[in-house]
Amino acid sequence: MLYETLIGDDVQMAADWLSKGACVGVPTETVYGLAANALDVAAVLKIFEAKQRPHFDPLIVHVADIKSAERITTNIPEKARNLFSAFSPGPVTILLPKQPIIPDLVTSGLDTVGIRIPAHPLLQELLRSLPFPLAAPSANPFGYISPTTADHVYAQLQGKIPYILDGGACKVGIESTIIGFEGENPVLYRPGGLSVEQIEACVGPVIFHTESGSHPAAPGMLKTHYAPRKKLRWLTNDAKPSSRTAIIGFDKYLPGIAAENQILLSPAGDLQEAASRLFAVMRELDASAFEEILAVPFPAHGLGLAINDRLRRAASEE
Ligand code: TXA
Ligand code: MG
Repeated sequence: MLYETLIGDDVQMAADWLSKGACVGVPTETVYGLAANALDVAAVLKIFEAKQRPHFDPLIVHVADIKSAERITTNIPEKARNLFSAFSPGPVTILLPKQPIIPDLVTSGLDTVGIRIPAHPLLQELLRSLPFPLAAPSANPFGYISPTTADHVYAQLQGKIPYILDGGACKVGIESTIIGFEGENPVLYRPGGLSVEQIEACVGPVIFHTESGSHPAAPGMLKTHYAPRKKLRWLTNDAKPSSRTAIIGFDKYLPGIAAENQILLSPAGDLQEAASRLFAVMRELDASAFEEILAVPFPAHGLGLAINDRLRRAASEE
């Protein structure tokens, strides 16, 4: 179906389309999502179709609060409850055993469902006005960079969806941290907008399961993901940047390279600011006259972990 895609901040209009079984672009504090009624298989199928997303990649389900989360999971263990209480609404997704009302299509046949309580006020208002939860992956074609503005969504999904709810630029700018459990132990599946340090301060040591394999538990773990179309590589000692090379850096210009070839994500040295700009800068560079992109590794703490993870996947050729 071909739509005339409208952009606006009309929560009622978004709710009407979703209630009719359509997909709508929605703002979250992390990245924009492509939302549909999580309980309606036909609506959820439209997400996969619009994104060209393989059915083996499960969707996160968004709810307004812990009470609504309880309707879609059979059990919220103590550590999960502590995480929700401490950081929700916020940029964390927790994998929990699913209730049968969540269709298998949403979880790709897994018996867990990724549950997220997003913080963006417009999405909170939308979720509270709807009688169903929203399944929503990032609103980009499969494998491409996640959108952090309504215009990014429009650029790639215009015609495929009727409405994009515009909530401005995403404050966090990088996807949610995904946490699951092995027994009682928290497991990190994807670093994201909530730092591991914050999670460990709340629930103790976290096991890292973010390595990719041919059968990843979370396809966000696929090596090539979040990638721009242009070649992106790590800046190594033997790299020979030319005048057509753009360099993504953190807070300081590298000596010996023209400043106009260098994009600093946060001259103030703030990893949160850097994360919030990463995807928009990757998109700008993809559309620019630069021919290749080199990235400097970020400090490996706080949101630097998620930034390095996304750069590594963007740089991968597998
Ligand atoms: O911040 C976010 O998480 C954004 C916003 C829109 O909420 N959403 C997002 O969704 O990044 P998506 O689909 O682009 O990435 C979700 C990742 C996928 O890699 C998927 O495989 C994984 O979460 N996932 C979802 N449910 C899962 C489950 N039950 N078990 C394992 N992985 C799961
Ligand atoms: Mg995604």
